[in-house]
Amino acid sequence: LREHEEFTKVKNIATIELGRYEIETWYFSPFPPEYNDCLKLYFCEFCLNFMKRKEQLQRHMRKCDLKHPPGDEIYRSGTLSMFEVDGKKNKVYGQNLCYLAKLFLDHKTLYYDVDLFLFYILCECDERGCHMVGYFSKEKHSEESYNLACILTLPPYQRKGYGKFLIAFSYELSKKEGKVGTPERPLSDLGLLSYRGYWTRVLLDILKKHKGNISIKELSDMTAIKAEDILSTLQSLELIQYRKGQHVICADPKVLDRHLKAAGRGGLEVDVSKLIWTPYK
Ligand code: ACO
Ligand code: ZN
Repeated sequence: LREHEEFTKVKNIATIELGRYEIETWYFSPFPPEYNDCLKLYFCEFCLNFMKRKEQLQRHMRKCDLKHPPGDEIYRSGTLSMFEVDGKKNKVYGQNLCYLAKLFLDHKTLYYDVDLFLFYILCECDERGCHMVGYFSKEKHSEESYNLACILTLPPYQRKGYGKFLIAFSYELSKKEGKVGTPERPLSDLGLLSYRGYWTRVLLDILKKHKGNISIKELSDMTAIKAEDILSTLQSLELIQYRKGQHVICADPKVLDRHLKAAGRGGLEVDVSKLIWTPYK
């Protein structure tokens, strides 16, 4: 236990520079040993290569010709774009992203085997290029019907609705696949809060429209949210009763309205008409 505690708590890299931000890190990340003595790392915001010294980054930026993540742009709406990166085709990028992400993710094992994953990178684009805001990873084939492995919004962009956008996006992909999905466990506290928020808003909207006359199975078919996640969300909202050995939805309109008021609106919607994507085969 002690060793584990030390492993997760002792940070090596205290800050990173990424694009126009200097960001304080949250957790340990197992960078290669030659970076053990570094307090600060300098990332190229486009290819995610990292360096020990500012001058190295400046030299790199003069010759790095990427202006967006590698891979395919599968979504564009206004200044927001989403890129799909295949870990097998862009191994170094995938590994760099995992090192970076682990700085903000506790109790997640780092996948060296990036081959098995697709990475969905959300960017804010301007005339200088497409700047990463956050991402999620997804196994190409999941036995457990996971539709998301790790999710991160970079700290300078947190609490602006990007997390819920990424979550919504992961379910839109599942809908296109004709499958239900669920995030890989364990969820962090912030991960659970974000998922609970997303599930709550999506389910309440549908319940309100259908005046509660809908089954958990139908909700799952419409949203690609796994039935267990629907049940736990509705239970926490006290909208489930157990009758004759069955869970039934009891959506009292007054209770629905009270919850809807408390749920708040996520501003950043996924515009499905702007998603151009076919499932991985
Ligand atoms: N304090 C309280 N509630 C919060 C906070 C916070 N600091 N951050 C997010 N929330 C809750 C709120 O309910 C918020 O909704 P609201 O703003 O409407 O009230 C909701 O989460 C989502 O907020 P977003 O702005 O959409 O999410 P954000 O862009 O901040 O991203 C995320 C959420 C991805 C979890 C981010 O906090 C993050 O990257 N954390 C570090 C990495 C992490 O823990 N990832 C999840 C691990 S689990 C997994 O990967 C399967
Ligand atoms: Zn670069």
